[in-house]
Amino acid sequence: MHILGIETSCDDTGVAIVSNGKKILSNLISSQHRFHEKYSGVVPEIAARQHIEALQPLLEEALNQAKLKIEEIDCLAVTTHPGLIGSLMVGVNCAKTIAYGYQKPLLGVSHLKAHFYSIIMSSKITYPFLGLLVSGGHTLLAVCHSPLDIKLIGTTVDDACGECFDKVAKFFNLGYPGGPMIEKTALKGDESSYQFPNIQFKKKSYNFSFSGLKTAVIHHHEKYLKNKKDSSLNLSNLTASFQKTAFQYLYNQTITVAKTMGIKQIGVCGGVSCNQYLRNLFLSNSKVQTFFPDFSLCTDNAAMIAGLAYHYYQEKEIIEDVLTLSPRAKSFKKEKIL
Ligand code: KG4
Ligand code: ZN
Repeated sequence: MHILGIETSCDDTGVAIVSNGKKILSNLISSQHRFHEKYSGVVPEIAARQHIEALQPLLEEALNQAKLKIEEIDCLAVTTHPGLIGSLMVGVNCAKTIAYGYQKPLLGVSHLKAHFYSIIMSSKITYPFLGLLVSGGHTLLAVCHSPLDIKLIGTTVDDACGECFDKVAKFFNLGYPGGPMIEKTALKGDESSYQFPNIQFKKKSYNFSFSGLKTAVIHHHEKYLKNKKDSSLNLSNLTASFQKTAFQYLYNQTITVAKTMGIKQIGVCGGVSCNQYLRNLFLSNSKVQTFFPDFSLCTDNAAMIAGLAYHYYQEKEIIEDVLTLSPRAKSFKKEKIL
């Protein structure tokens, strides 16, 4: 079964065709980074307009690469939540138009569930596993029982991990998106040169918090500016120490939860999971097995949307008429959370 997926939840336009939930026939991404770079963050109106520009050529190229005609597509799938509402609307309208014009079923897909599914698509992990989603918008811990049965057990109470990286990078004018820039700058640094406070967890909570670390890094710089005699500010050392503190925290929390719950496999996904320091940290633990998606499936992409949609189709979660968009993840309190 060939599913054509469309992803436009933030600033990457993605179109992909996936067969039977796993075989990627094409997976195209048009990144908008150059349009948002000068603002050091995503401008929602620009993002929505760029999705409009990018979709048509991507659709044609995705079909070409898959050697399929649109008539041979069995089903359409599109991200409906969470995301920037203007960006989501562009993708959903495009998907609805094709579905209506060619009389194909249309599925609305959760971007967050799709990130967790990206691990299954491209690694040897098996269910159940403890999923850690670290992206620009989310830091989530969840127990993944199946593609659609995902129980959220922790989230961030303030900044997302990737957001914290982006904000620190913005503060030091390192460029956008900040995560890869911090990783690159940190390569030449000494991670033990700055001691940032280790973040503590509240008892009985699996939630994360990143704003304290961000503030500590920024305060450190302000102190340095006041006292220029201190010649110790070295961006490589600072970013290396920041990266180490942030990832040690993510790692400790995730391993603690895995041990407490008796889960032997961990899957780490989302844009931040591209980071090699983070990967090495998890891989250094021989007691639990950690899996990551292919680099091409870590950041936002439509292959994970088309892949997961196959399972929605099996569960008959087909959207007949109206797709309800949501900028937020659905209620974290109920079982149907993502
Ligand atoms: O999953 P994603 O493409 O979009 C969201 O759903 O948010 O993740 C983007 C985030 C950004 O915050 C970016 O800075 C971060 O992933 N990121 C990284 C790296 N590559 C991307 N963070 C740290 N190290 C990286 N190598
Ligand atoms: Zn994402």
